[in-house]
Amino acid sequence: MSTQTPTQTEESSETDAEADAPSKGDERRDEKRRRAAEERARRQAEEAEKAAADEETVELKVFRYDPEVEGKQEPRFDTFHVPFTKGMTVLDALMYSRDTYDSSLTFRHSCRQAVCGSDAMFVNGGQKLACKTQISELEEPIRVEPLPHAEVRKDLVVDMEHFYDQMEAVEPYFQTNEYPDGELEEQRQTRENREKIKMSTRCIWCSACMSSCNIAAGDNEYLGPAAINKAYRFAMDEREGEDIKQKRLEIIEQEHGVWRCQTQFSCTEVCPKDIPLTEHIQELKREAVKNNLKFW
Ligand code: SF4
Ligand code: FES
Repeated sequence: MSTQTPTQTEESSETDAEADAPSKGDERRDEKRRRAAEERARRQAEEAEKAAADEETVELKVFRYDPEVEGKQEPRFDTFHVPFTKGMTVLDALMYSRDTYDSSLTFRHSCRQAVCGSDAMFVNGGQKLACKTQISELEEPIRVEPLPHAEVRKDLVVDMEHFYDQMEAVEPYFQTNEYPDGELEEQRQTRENREKIKMSTRCIWCSACMSSCNIAAGDNEYLGPAAINKAYRFAMDEREGEDIKQKRLEIIEQEHGVWRCQTQFSCTEVCPKDIPLTEHIQELKREAVKNNLKFW
């Protein structure tokens, strides 16, 4: 049974209502907090607006040409402004331009990590892989053109047929008449021999070297640095054997082979895989001389 009197209950309710009602001090605190939040939001909005206005952009001047579209048959340069982001490559900037401004902008690319060799271009006057070239290292406006000394198909895409023909001419695959004895199925190579040909195996068939070579530009039949490097890769491989090496030397010492090279080093300078192309060509020249020495 309850022992509480009606008077006691009334007093208690009044006390609770007083406790629930916000005091003047609480109201002031809430108002202060609300104003501070509003001020923060206003400042953040201002900063975002300023960042958008200050956004760093890079200017690209890109070669355009399309023989199949009326009005685009005359070569020209289009300008694209691309928001710069840290680590951005020329390929990133081209992709942004294509995806944002003009979906007809045409260029080759695949791996985006300097492996497939499909995006060699002429950037600010030098042969480069677009995916390996940092925007931050280039002067603006950045001029992007197709590889020189090759027929332009469209925009930055060139015809690679001639380059592939030259590569094919040196039979760029392993051949041997000598097979290991016994049960061993693999062709073992000494560590030293592997070291010797190591750099030559790095070629990714990008054609930057061929495009940079004055001799190749003037002599369409010249094998070119990439093909000669490929010949080196196999001629120096001890597993192929002397007969095959002899055949390879005959290919590279023909009229439009190694002797055309004038050691200008342009190929070595532009190779994105740092292959010492000129050095390899010179070594093959020495091999060719030795091969032709006769002792009576
Ligand atoms: S040798 Fe170098 S520049 Fe020439 S095709 Fe190979 S990777 Fe490209
Ligand atoms: S995209 Fe493959 S090498 Fe650049």
